[in-house]
Amino acid sequence: MNAIDCIMTRRSVRKFKPTMPTDEEIKTVIEAGRYAPSGMSRQTWHFVVVRNQDWLARMNERVFSLVNDTSKGSNLERNGAKGYSCNYHSPVFIIVSANPAFGTSRDDCACALENMFLTAHAIGLGSCWINQLGGENCEKLRDLLTEAGVPEGDEVYGCCALGYADGEPSPRKERSDSVIYFD
Ligand SMILES: Cc1cc2nc3c(=O)[nH]c(=O)nc-3n(C[C@H](O)[C@H](O)[C@H](O)COP(=O)(O)O)c2cc1C
Repeated sequence: MNAIDCIMTRRSVRKFKPTMPTDEEIKTVIEAGRYAPSGMSRQTWHFVVVRNQDWLARMNERVFSLVNDTSKGSNLERNGAKGYSCNYHSPVFIIVSANPAFGTSRDDCACALENMFLTAHAIGLGSCWINQLGGENCEKLRDLLTEAGVPEGDEVYGCCALGYADGEPSPRKERSDSVIYFD
């Protein structure tokens, strides 16, 4: 798949098959993250690859108790009968974190995540940005993050739900009129 086609056809996936992607596929996605641009090439990021389903269940219980009623509703709808899972029951969940002391940590992680989403799509996997472990939830979930291996002092800037897509995504939203040309 060429790069432009990959960008144009990638979608956020919110329904996954339980099948675990291969080690090689997961490594390909992580490598794409590691090869993203970063401020002064400091590569401030850390990638924690979670395949431990017991941890994911405990994390989701905690996240469910933290998210507000509105997001609970929409997340529940998205999950349907399977019950709440902020990562939509993806078999793989990759936490991308960095130390906020670096001025570009958040940007570095965002670049890494987009590389990961595009690469996942290119190799036939589905993915979605998951935000529920970031912001103020990060501190509240610190014990779980430490257990999974997220370095102390790091903030979670985004996570990647990863797996084989189950079905086709809904039609894409129209692009907003956001381009200004100044010739
Ligand atoms: C910063 C950021 C945070 C996001 N957080 C979530 C999230 O927590 N859960 C979710 O299902 N999707 C999340 N998304 C995915 C967006 O909803 C999705 O990219 C958008 O609806 C456009 O759809 P597309 O990715 O299929 O083009 C996030 C995307 C970004 C860039």
